[in-house]
Amino acid sequence: MLDKLFFKKKSPENHTFSEENIPKHVAIIMDGNGRWARKRAMPRIAGHHEGMKTVRKIVKEANKIGIEVLTLYAFSTENWKRPREEVDFLMKLPGEFLNTFLPDLIKENVQVRIMGKKELLPLHTVKAVDEAINKTKNNTGLILNFALNYGSRDEITAAVKALASEVKQGRLEPSQIDDSMIEQHLMTHDLNDPDLLIRTSGEVRLSNFMLWQLAYSEFWFTEVLWPDFSEEHLREAVSQFAGRGRRYGGV
Ligand code: FPP
Repeated sequence: MLDKLFFKKKSPENHTFSEENIPKHVAIIMDGNGRWARKRAMPRIAGHHEGMKTVRKIVKEANKIGIEVLTLYAFSTENWKRPREEVDFLMKLPGEFLNTFLPDLIKENVQVRIMGKKELLPLHTVKAVDEAINKTKNNTGLILNFALNYGSRDEITAAVKALASEVKQGRLEPSQIDDSMIEQHLMTHDLNDPDLLIRTSGEVRLSNFMLWQLAYSEFWFTEVLWPDFSEEHLREAVSQFAGRGRRYGGV
């Protein structure tokens, strides 16, 4: 079935996968920036800066592979607990990333989105992402979805509140509430659930990330720290995904 091979790389591992078993939506918990910096006796923010460069590489590769949606956990609702200097730096990264790479993303037909509580972000961050969202909204290639000030429990709580309020107003019966109604109230209402979740740096937990949406996703963990994560690692994850059988609770 050589004609079916969509992508064949030239390195010894030969991660191959055909077009039909590529994950459509890949979500990544980009972890290990701090440790990457510490190993080099650098400040943590240097790790985040290097992590930003990795984002650029991985977006390009994801687009090349044919992934349709790439959701990146860039800042969680819990990350505000970090030292002020680090939070300020993390809030400047979307602006720096977009200032540097937006023209390329436009050329590559990437559509930029964010999910998370935008109203709590600094104005400069919101401005940078809004500009990118506007300038790429008609693009039809990869959807690059940044989770920024995102927390899954927050998201589910907001959905429950919205439904409760519809019940209170007499517009909805509790018995009518089902999975799809909850999904419609999540920030991912117009996206498919992730097929594949990747977490770097050896941590094996979800950290309040897409708890609802990851119910049937395949997980792929690696010890590699996010700044060291390469195109090759992404292909390895996609290739392993392609070899897994998904049963969604069936047989
Ligand atoms: C977790 O590593 C990483 C973050 C909380 C931030 C992730 C942000 C980036 C990768 C850059 C984002 C880029 C854009 C374009 C928005 P950690 O700091 O917890 O690492 P550690 O566990 O080793 O300390």
